Amino acid sequence: MAVIGTDVTEAARRLKAGEVVAVPTETVYGLAANALNRQAVLQIFKIKHRPSFDPLIVHCVNVEEAFRYAVRVPPAAFVLAEKFWPGPLTLVLPSRGVVPEVVNAGLPTVALRVPAHPLLIQLLHQVDFPLAAPSANPFGYVSPTQASHVYEQLGDKIGYILDGGPCQYGLESTIIGFEKNKPVLLRLGAIPTAQLLQLFPDITFKIQVSSNPLAPGQLTSHYAPRKKVLWCQDFEESSDSDPLTAYLVFGSKRPAHAPSTNILNLSEQGNYHEAARNLYHLLRQFDAGPWHRLKVFPLPEDDEGLAHTINDRLRRAAASFS
Ligand code: TXA
Ligand code: MG
Repeated sequence: MAVIGTDVTEAARRLKAGEVVAVPTETVYGLAANALNRQAVLQIFKIKHRPSFDPLIVHCVNVEEAFRYAVRVPPAAFVLAEKFWPGPLTLVLPSRGVVPEVVNAGLPTVALRVPAHPLLIQLLHQVDFPLAAPSANPFGYVSPTQASHVYEQLGDKIGYILDGGPCQYGLESTIIGFEKNKPVLLRLGAIPTAQLLQLFPDITFKIQVSSNPLAPGQLTSHYAPRKKVLWCQDFEESSDSDPLTAYLVFGSKRPAHAPSTNILNLSEQGNYHEAARNLYHLLRQFDAGPWHRLKVFPLPEDDEGLAHTINDRLRRAAASFS
């Protein structure tokens, strides 16, 4: 079984040897390998049961390195990098062809990110290559936001989990691509939508809501627990006297008929950042608990636009059961 530890040198040693190591990021935990080593990257797909058509994000030590793997970088990409790197932003840019095709699933583009987690930055300084890393969960399942989440599901398939504590955001990075040099939002993520709109008021949204394999991470059904998740518009609609129904709520309101032991609360205070941090942990708690089904409700929209991402994830968690 995997060792959980905080030894950056040990993690670096294993990565240099071509091993796959779980690493913390400020968004969710990643399953990392040397992005320039084809054999090492192939292991990631195998461990995750990830289809080879689903490309990986390349994590770089700094902005200069990230742009070295791209060509024809549009000015808007520099603006976004300046504002959000290091941080929870992934940019999809035309590939220079240095990163092997297995990483971008044969696409002409490469997804690049400069993470901010201090332990991961230390690690990137100790290796002289970027790290390809998807979220460290079996394909289609909820992303891990703590080292123990990784251990529970992939602990028997990897040797080392670098423990950086609970993730600061708890939601995956925001993914932005470009069309005719204009930014296109491909995945809602940890960056609140309002911040993107402030920078690019005319940014296009191309969030996938189908099962289009060209943008696989956006499969309608994704980020899903194993047990049944039901999307309900409001408490009225959710009316249910079954003691095996759990409810994922936000703030002080809850369905009148629900026993308190069946309530999972994203944030008692109604804080959206706290809700984001708790989301995946609570979905896992539901899966491990005694209930048969989870009813989820849309969070009311907030000024920052974080509800936007959280509701997107709740809808996808429910999608396989609708
Ligand atoms: O926060 C995150 O982004 C985490 C941490 C570990 O960095 N990573 C993550 O990776 O969520 P993953 O593999 O679970 O999701 C990455 C998404 C996939 O849905 C993939 O389809 C998309 O990025 N992607 C990667 N390369 C792409 C490309 N060239 N064009 C379009 N989408 C791409
Ligand atoms: Mg993922």
